[in-house]
Amino acid sequence: SGGRVVVVGSLNVDSTSYVASFPEPGETIRAHGFQVALGGKGANQAVAAHVAGVPVEFIACVGDDASGAFARGTLERLGLPTGALRTVPDAPTGVAQITVADSGENTVIITGGANLALTPAVVDAVRDRVVAATIVLTQGELPAATIDRLAVVATELGTRFVLNLAPPAPVSAATLGAADPLVLNEHEARAVGIGADAPAGATLDEWRVLAASAAGGIARSVVVTLGAAGAVAADATDSWTAAAPQVPAVDTTGAGDGFTGTLAAGIAEGRSLPEALGIAVAAGALAVQTRGTVDSYAPRAIVLAAAGVAS
Ligand code: RIB
Ligand code: NA
Repeated sequence: SGGRVVVVGSLNVDSTSYVASFPEPGETIRAHGFQVALGGKGANQAVAAHVAGVPVEFIACVGDDASGAFARGTLERLGLPTGALRTVPDAPTGVAQITVADSGENTVIITGGANLALTPAVVDAVRDRVVAATIVLTQGELPAATIDRLAVVATELGTRFVLNLAPPAPVSAATLGAADPLVLNEHEARAVGIGADAPAGATLDEWRVLAASAAGGIARSVVVTLGAAGAVAADATDSWTAAAPQVPAVDTTGAGDGFTGTLAAGIAEGRSLPEALGIAVAAGALAVQTRGTVDSYAPRAIVLAAAGVAS
C-alpha cells in the first residue's frame, strides 16, 4: 500500500520464433511457433510492477505506426495508463527479434527505433511525474545520456532511483553510484566490475559477498540475478541471498523484467530489500514457466503465496 513507480524506459514489439535449436549462420530452419507481443525491458517492467499491485506510470516513446498502436492497445488491455506514451514522427516503434530454443534459451536482437527519441530533454519534461513517484525505474535500453540525466533528476527530486543496466550501457559512475539498487545479471555485473574475476558457477553465497563489496561504493545497493539459482542483494550494511525454486524453464524471455518490476514494486510498497528480493525471485520463477514476457507475469496473490509472504 502507498508508493508509486514511474518507469522511464523502452518499449518494443517482440517477434518471437520458437525453434528446436538455433540456426547456424547461413542456415534456414523452420520454427514450430511464432508470436508477436508487447516487449521491451521498460514496458515489461512497468507491466510487472502493475501486476504486482502498485500504481505505475510508464513513460516511453513509440513510432506513428501499427506497432505503436498495438503496444498502446496492449498496455490498455493490461490496465496501465498510457497518457505518458509519446508518439514520435520519424522513427519506427522499437523491435525485438527473438528466437527461443526448446532448451528454453533465447537470442534477442533489438532495434532501438523510437526508443532512441527518449532523450535527456524528455526526462526534463517529465520532472513533475518523477517527483510524484516513490521510485523511478529505468533500464539499459535507453540512450546512456538519458539514463544519466534521469539519475541526476531523481537525485535532485529525492525520488529513489532503481537502475537495471540491461543490456550494459556506458552510463557514468555517478549514475551507478545513485542506483538503489543497481540490478544486474551475472554478465552485466561483470561488465561494471562486480565479480569480474568470479569463476563461472560461483555460488549464491559467493555472489552475495561480491555484491556486498560493491554496495555503498559502485552503487548504493546492488542486486545480482543468477538465473535458475536465484538472486542476491546487498546494501552498505548487510547482504542477503534468495534461492529460486527448481522449476521447468519454458521461456526465460522477460523473466528478468518480471523480477525487476516486482522488486521495484515491493520496494515502493515499503518492503525491505531482502523481502522484496524473495518476492521478486518467486515472480521470476513463475515467469519462466510460460511463454512470452508480459503475459507470463503471475498475479500478485499467486506470487506472494509462492514467496510465502502474507498479502
Ligand atoms: O528482457 C526481455 C526484453 O528484451 C524483450 O521483451 C525484448 O523486447 C528485449 O528488449
Ligand atoms: Na516467460
